[in-house]
Amino acid sequence: MPRREKVEESNGAEPELHDEEDAISGNSSLEEKLTELPGVGSATAAKLVEHGYKTYESIAVANATELAGITGLPQTLSQKIINSARAELKFTIKTAYELEQEMKDIKRITTGSKNLDKLLGGGVETKSATEFFGEYGAGKTQIAFQLSVNAQLPVEKGGLEGTSFYVDTEGTFVPARVRGIAEASSLDPEKALQNVFWIRALNSDHQIAILEGAKDFIQEHNVKLVVIDSVTSFFRSEYPGRENLAPRQQKLNIHLHSLIRLAEIYNLAVVVTNQVMATPDMFYGDPTRAVGGNVLGHAPNNRIYLRKSKGQKRIARLVDSSYLEPGEAVFEITGQGIRDPPE
Ligand SMILES: Nc1ncnc2c1ncn2[C@@H]1O[C@H](COP(=O)(O)OP(=O)(O)O)[C@@H](O)[C@H]1O
Ligand SMILES: [Mg+2]
Repeated sequence: MPRREKVEESNGAEPELHDEEDAISGNSSLEEKLTELPGVGSATAAKLVEHGYKTYESIAVANATELAGITGLPQTLSQKIINSARAELKFTIKTAYELEQEMKDIKRITTGSKNLDKLLGGGVETKSATEFFGEYGAGKTQIAFQLSVNAQLPVEKGGLEGTSFYVDTEGTFVPARVRGIAEASSLDPEKALQNVFWIRALNSDHQIAILEGAKDFIQEHNVKLVVIDSVTSFFRSEYPGRENLAPRQQKLNIHLHSLIRLAEIYNLAVVVTNQVMATPDMFYGDPTRAVGGNVLGHAPNNRIYLRKSKGQKRIARLVDSSYLEPGEAVFEITGQGIRDPPE
C-alpha cells in the first residue's frame, strides 16, 4: 500500500504496556494492519483496537470527533485517518451512470405476499439492509422464516436459488415452522431445511464476530440472505439507560454498516428485525414513533413498521426508504406462511 504522508503522533506511547496487552489479547495483527493507514502509529492503533475500531470499515464509518476523543489526536488528523480508511475501501467517486449499472445487479426475494412485495418495490432487495420493526407478535420472525425459504426458490418464482444464514439472538427459531413454510412452497422440505444455516448468538460481541467471520462461509455456500433476528436485543440489554446510549449507538452503527457492506460485496439481502413497543398515542400520533423505533437510525436502506390488525392480518408500513414511495400493505400470517389476505 502506498504511504501517502507520515504524520507524527502527538501522544505519548506506552510500549511495554501495549506489548503485554498484545500478548494476552492477540490484537497485535489488527493493530499492525491499522498502522498501514497514514497518521496511525502503534500507540494510536492500540487505542483504536482497544475501543473496538479493529477494521478499516469501522474507522471509515466513524466520525472525527469520536476518533479524536479516543486517540487524543487533533480532529483534522482524525479526519485524515477516516478518509484514508475510506480510500482503502475504495469509497470512490463514480458517475451516476456507473452507479445505475451497478444497481442493475440488485435482485429481490419475494415475501410471499404480493401486497408486501409491491410495497418493497418487488421484494426484499440485495445489496442493502431491510429492517422489519414492530411490537411482539407483529410477524417479524414469521417474515424472516418465509424469506429464508424463499431465497432458495428459482428466480422465476421470486427467489435467488441461494441459501440463508440465520442469526438467532432470541432463541425463537422454529425448524418445524420453516418446514411447514417449505412444504407449502414447491421446495423439498428436507433440502429447504438443509439450506438454512442457523446460529445462536450469545451476546452482542458474539453477534458481531459471527458476521465478521462469516465471509468465507457466505461465499462457499452461496448465501443470498442473511437474517439477524433480532439485531437490537443484545445491544438494548447490554447497554441499558441513557448513560450507555452513545457507546451502544456507536457499536450498533458500526455493526449495521458492516452488514450493509457484506450485502454489497456478496450481492445478498440483509434482513434485520427490531422489536419495539407501541406508544400509547399510537392511534393519533405517528405510529413510526414507536418506542425504540429509531435505534437503527437511517442505516437500513428500507425500514418497514409492522402492526397487528384483525386476527392474522398485519399491516406493513414503509416508513423510511431512500427511493421507494411511502405506503402501506396488508398481509396475513397463515399456516402456509406469509400470504395476501383473501379478496
Ligand atoms: N403456524 C402458524 N399459523 C398461523 N399463524 C402463525 C403460525 N405460527 C405463528 N403464527 C402467527 O405469528 C405470530 C407471531 O409472529 P412472530 O413473527 O413470531 O412475531 P414477532 O414480530 O414477535 O417476531 C403469532 O401471533 C401467530 O399469530
Ligand atoms: Mg420474533
